[in-house]
Amino acid sequence: MGLVTTTDMFKKAYDGGYAIGAFNVNNMEIVQGITEAAGELRAPLILQVSKGARQYANHTYLMKLVEAAIIENDLPIAMHLDHGDTFELCKSCIDGGFTSVMIDASSKPFEENIALTKQVVEYAHDKGVVVEAELGTLAGIEDEVQVSEEDSSYTRPEEVEEFVDRTGCDSLAIAIGTSHGAYKFKPGTKPQLRFDVLEEVEKKLPGFPIVLHGASSVPQEFVEKINKFGGNMPGAIGVPEDQLRKAASMAVCKINIDSDLRLAMTASIREHFTEHPDHFDPRQYLKPAREAIKAMVAHKIKDVLGCDGKA
Ligand code: G3H
Ligand code: 13P
Ligand code: ZN
Repeated sequence: MGLVTTTDMFKKAYDGGYAIGAFNVNNMEIVQGITEAAGELRAPLILQVSKGARQYANHTYLMKLVEAAIIENDLPIAMHLDHGDTFELCKSCIDGGFTSVMIDASSKPFEENIALTKQVVEYAHDKGVVVEAELGTLAGIEDEVQVSEEDSSYTRPEEVEEFVDRTGCDSLAIAIGTSHGAYKFKPGTKPQLRFDVLEEVEKKLPGFPIVLHGASSVPQEFVEKINKFGGNMPGAIGVPEDQLRKAASMAVCKINIDSDLRLAMTASIREHFTEHPDHFDPRQYLKPAREAIKAMVAHKIKDVLGCDGKA
């Protein structure tokens, strides 16, 4: 089995009322932790690479790691560019073997978002690659670009049909209250996604796959563990998992998770060094870190996404 696109995955997920996990990858241990969990649970998978990940680890290394994971786990895996911000970056990933790209022109005016998305779609479709686009803006940080809460805005359902028709995109990321990073909601507030917006979008685009970014739940046990072992993460709050589960049962077919993997990995490494201050062999702390990622992904697949056994 080689890399696949998301077309078939999303159709089955939409019809089956579950979502596919899109997990960010940056190195070998992260790829292994994610794919071992998905392999054992027979879950279809999207591995996504940000511009920063590509700069950090190099395109070819990431491609080859994912190809190795396919051989080892015999799974349908889509290789996706997360938050592509230019045509050139999307083109480079398409030419370099990715099966899916995101063009994120969501911070641009509507007409400019359409024009850039359409340009990427035309190039991608010609090569058999699918395209995710975004309408509406999320708060938070991605690749050092910070969007403040005031500058974020929910997706306007009255715009989605025209956007999808005119761009030809294959899936659409929308803003319904999620945001990137570990500090999504103000401490003391009750996180609540805008399901009314999701329902309206679903009505305008029946059968069309919707994507949720910024969907980490920031489990408090991991924040507490990081802080117990020398960290300092004040007021980290994520999206409640029951709300993600509900979104997955609706039109949301792809749920993006990165921060929760970072938390799991960092908590494990902090704990390891506190308990074993004499260790200096990277395998000693990366092995439990990889296990922590695997356990987090297994939990997401079974308890949040509902995609176990769907590969
Ligand atoms: O949405 C952003 C992802 O969490 C990737 O983060 O740009 O720091 O690699 P990054
Ligand atoms: P989190 O920061 O909530 O994990 O979101 C990741 C994401 O949306 C990647 O595109
Ligand atoms: Zn994102």
